Amino acid sequence: MLESSRDLLGMSSLCLGDIEAIFERADTVQKKDGPGRLRQYFGTKLLASFFFEPSLRTQASFEAAMLRLGGKVLGNGSSSGHRANSSHEESMADAARVMSSFADVIVFRHSSPNALPVFVENSAVPVINAGNGNGAGAEHPSQALCDLYTIQKHFGRLNGLSVSLLGNLQKRAIRSLVAGLGKYKEISLNIPRNLAFPLLDEDEKRARRDGLAINCFDTIEEVIANGDVIYHGGLAADWQPQLGEDHFLTATKLRAARSHSIVMHPLPRPGSIAIDVDQTRHAKYFECAANGVPVRMAVLESILSRSLH
Ligand code: CP
Repeated sequence: MLESSRDLLGMSSLCLGDIEAIFERADTVQKKDGPGRLRQYFGTKLLASFFFEPSLRTQASFEAAMLRLGGKVLGNGSSSGHRANSSHEESMADAARVMSSFADVIVFRHSSPNALPVFVENSAVPVINAGNGNGAGAEHPSQALCDLYTIQKHFGRLNGLSVSLLGNLQKRAIRSLVAGLGKYKEISLNIPRNLAFPLLDEDEKRARRDGLAINCFDTIEEVIANGDVIYHGGLAADWQPQLGEDHFLTATKLRAARSHSIVMHPLPRPGSIAIDVDQTRHAKYFECAANGVPVRMAVLESILSRSLH
């Protein structure tokens, strides 16, 4: 059960104990069957997904998670149809008041980091941040939980790992991952020295405060060669094409990787990871996407079942 807050908005609201409890539940939650007290309880619960940006994995896996727990899902159609898009003349505050009168938990995605606090302040029920833009203030905490869970399952630990970061280091998945890694011990981050979108100052400061070692390398090959985990965070639409090519991960580039290293990506991957990487022993991104269901089941259980504990 999340100790610290009603909502899941960012990784800073989770302590290591919260994360470990979610991972433990994710290990077991799919094995439960039969009616059970929890399943009966979830039969009365409704999840609303409220997405103002496209999603495949996050929306579908939260909905699958809720249904697998025995709960119900209130979809709300495509983002362009929401009245709370500015062109449709409804404030985010009003949308939050109304949606939270229908549902017991809301999964919310918006392109602007500023929409989330307004929505949360006006919601009567817990809100899960499913991605709120990119750059300062942006996070994608449930993605980070899936990433950390997948890494933990593969290596049996997170402490002591060396994590190489590629792509745009200001994207929300990377920001949440780095915040999550800061809960663990003796983690090194490997990053390219010259990046169009380096770690934000606030992320670098927090990472150093959390005790993460940050190693900068001149070439992508060196970044790749130094990671137990090679995490590609994706590219921004305004990424410089010549840098994009440098960061495009191929099976050939992965010849520089440690034999045991794994490649992760939040997906979708266009421009980031070549199809030929799928056939290598390093590819873990589809396994990570599949882990989205048990991890999000554990998150929903943790948020919604407080009254049962
Ligand atoms: N990883 C992720 O957030 O994917 P979607 O945009 O498809 O939800």
